[in-house]
Amino acid sequence: MRTFFPPQAQILVVLLLSLLVPLTKPFTVIVSDSSNQSALVDGPQSGFTMNRDGARTDAREQEAVYDIMRATGNDWATDIPDVCRGRWHGIECMPDKDNVYHVVSLSFGALSDDTAFPTCDPTKSYISKSIMKLPHLRTLFFYRCFSYNPQPIPAFLGQLSPTLQTLVLRENGHVGFIPTELGNLTRLKVLDLHKNNLNGSIPVSLGRLAELRSLDLSRNTLTGSIFSLSFPVLNVLDLSQNLLVGSIPSTLGSCHSLIKIDFSRNRLSGSIPESIGSLKELILMDLSYNRLSKPLPTSIRNLNALQALILKGNPMGSATLSSEEFDGMRSLMILILSYTNLHGPIPESLGRLTNLRVIHLDGNQLNGSIPTNFKDLKNLGELRLNDNQLTGPVPFGREMVWKMRRKLKLHSNPGLCYDANSGFEDGLDSTFDSGIGLCNTPEPGSARTVQHLSATDGGTMPSKTDKSSAALHKASVFLRLLQQTAAIASTLIFIST
Ligand SMILES: *[C@@H]1O[C@H](CO)[C@@H](O)[C@H](O)[C@H]1NC(C)=O
Ligand SMILES: *[C@@H]1O[C@H](CO)[C@@H](O)[C@H](O)[C@H]1NC(C)=O
Ligand SMILES: *[C@@H]1O[C@H](CO)[C@@H](O)[C@H](O)[C@H]1NC(C)=O
Ligand SMILES: *[C@@H]1O[C@H](CO)[C@@H](O)[C@H](O)[C@H]1NC(C)=O
Repeated sequence: MRTFFPPQAQILVVLLLSLLVPLTKPFTVIVSDSSNQSALVDGPQSGFTMNRDGARTDAREQEAVYDIMRATGNDWATDIPDVCRGRWHGIECMPDKDNVYHVVSLSFGALSDDTAFPTCDPTKSYISKSIMKLPHLRTLFFYRCFSYNPQPIPAFLGQLSPTLQTLVLRENGHVGFIPTELGNLTRLKVLDLHKNNLNGSIPVSLGRLAELRSLDLSRNTLTGSIFSLSFPVLNVLDLSQNLLVGSIPSTLGSCHSLIKIDFSRNRLSGSIPESIGSLKELILMDLSYNRLSKPLPTSIRNLNALQALILKGNPMGSATLSSEEFDGMRSLMILILSYTNLHGPIPESLGRLTNLRVIHLDGNQLNGSIPTNFKDLKNLGELRLNDNQLTGPVPFGREMVWKMRRKLKLHSNPGLCYDANSGFEDGLDSTFDSGIGLCNTPEPGSARTVQHLSATDGGTMPSKTDKSSAALHKASVFLRLLQQTAAIASTLIFIST
């Protein structure tokens, strides 16, 4: 349940990645660099009917497609005399110079009403070995196909055509190991094995996939550690929700094209490598719910494209944040450091990152007062500072309080209060207990103290509310990213061009 992108958006991303790859250059001649096998002429499918009389699908491939369709319970397809003319969603063909059509893409699974690929009969489907008779295949996409007939990912997929660029086996209920042989698909750009029941470790052979743009192995039960990574053009690396142990390899810093790293919900330990600072394109880093136990590397301040940093639920070695912490992270919009064992004051540098929209520092041992420059965070829509030891007056008034409303959480900070003339109270929804009380008017020369706590004994919010809103929150954080910057969406579209 814990992925940063809501499922629809993930699927959309997969679609963009997998479908746009063959579609972005519709009228070019693809010249194979190894053989003349795949000297296909790219063209729109409609060109087939009008001026390509006599064109027909390669007979061997046609038989292979029948086999593959039968193996997924789609026997209807065997009545189609020419599969490339069948034009169902989920098959794409391209002609070669002799006007023979070759299958370049096969997709299965009902993604949405708009993308109705043939569905599989989930009780008896399997991947037919005949798939190896499609030497021009670029995209293979199976979604929710084998759920009730659990089976390993067949090793023969590793012998698929070297033209294969996209292999998606999402939510198929696959069991067992990731076949080492997949490392032979050295032209792959997209490998997506999200949400299966794969176990064992990530095969080192996948390190040979040097052209990968997106690697998603999330939501399996993979064990072992993350091998030394060297993916020069990798944009998306999602290993979240597995059982991975060991430390984050410092070679991660050599994957210079990374835009998104999600290692959340594993058992990774040690530190975030200093090399992370060289990932200049990085927009999103989610390492939440691991066992990382060292303070943040100083190099993290070099991540000036980073928009979301999520480290919630790591012990992070009882760190105090330096006063320059986060300086340089100009693009930061979302900072989630809840329950990371932070001590000492909230650094003032945070208040200078005026793109910030979401700050969660709850459940730490932060003390001192909220930096006064937090009032300059005009984009802030969500602030959680509850369950700390913060003291003194809240430095913002009506407007910010009103804007954040219930997304402002300050309770369980025994020394935190608001000034009578700050407008803080006016900004509050009358039914909402902020959990903090009015500050004493300071005596000349004396420190401010809290006059009283709110009626509900510190105003602790019921934690049930927190939990039930957590899932919604994930989606809303993501939507905010999309709406307010469109950066992730556009970069992901960009990936496939
Ligand atoms: C292309 O195909 C022809 C005929 O099948 C063959 O003779 C030739 O060696 C092939 N060329 C390459 C570069 O593989
Ligand atoms: C992996 O899963 C398979 C099938 O579910 C099981 O037979 C095997 O024992 C598991 N292996 C490990 C190392 O957990
Ligand atoms: C594919 O990979 C396996 C294991 O990684 C290897 O033993 C085999 O030789 C490879 N096959 C080809 C055709 O490259
Ligand atoms: C904050 O806590 C640290 C110990 O973690 C302590 O040394 C420091 O004096 C405290 N500062 C304030 C303002 O309470």
